[in-house]
Amino acid sequence: SGRKFFVGGNWKMNGNKDEIKKIVDGLNSATLNDNTDIVVSPPACYLEYTKGLLSPKISTAGQNCYKAAKGAFTGDLSPQMLIDVGADWVIIGHSERRNVFGEGDELIAEKTAFALESAVGVIACIGEKLEEREAGKTEEVVFQQTKAIAAKVTNWDKVVLAYEPVWAIGTGKTATPQQAQDVHAQLRKWLRENVSESVANSLRIIYGGSVTGGNCKELAQSPDIDGFLVGGASLKPEFVEIINARG
Ligand code: G3H
Repeated sequence: SGRKFFVGGNWKMNGNKDEIKKIVDGLNSATLNDNTDIVVSPPACYLEYTKGLLSPKISTAGQNCYKAAKGAFTGDLSPQMLIDVGADWVIIGHSERRNVFGEGDELIAEKTAFALESAVGVIACIGEKLEEREAGKTEEVVFQQTKAIAAKVTNWDKVVLAYEPVWAIGTGKTATPQQAQDVHAQLRKWLRENVSESVANSLRIIYGGSVTGGNCKELAQSPDIDGFLVGGASLKPEFVEIINARG
């Protein structure tokens, strides 16, 4: 496809200095595929600590940020602050931000645009809930989520789109390679028709939801799956297998 494989490890609200040191030691001593962009996303308070320990081959990402550089936004942080502590990326619109913290499409789109203007790459997350899939609304939902983001993005060079079906996140119920491939192909078609041919061809669309060392290789064979966003397994030694899933 010409698209570089991209694997992100979203540690979510997990880890402490001792545990992070062990995870990073494991990554630094592993043989990692040079043809993969690798990013880990620790809790914000550990970004600088993690960056200081990590091999320069591995980038860091924030798990969220706000849509302003600074100001009276208690408890939040800005893309400028992420850059200041060494992050190159930020995850925006993760299903937990949407569903636990109530973030909507409009805010997620605004955050995405502001992060990109601030020169932070964005891992933009979308995905349907189980009841939406069962009602046959998967495409409608992911197209609407993508449309909101696309309305505010002008340059897609530093965007990665993460398709994470909510029913597959943290459940052990991975989408089958065919289920994931189908949605990724539909998203690429949507991008071709609504953004541009070149964005449709070049944008990395990664899959997330119960990816493991055991299922990553088969998923990675699908032509439109350009990598993974990994939660639970990114805290474990098997994350190395996932990074190297393309062989
Ligand atoms: O961002 C990562 C996803 O939420 C997937 O999490 O691999 O634990 O299912 P999981």
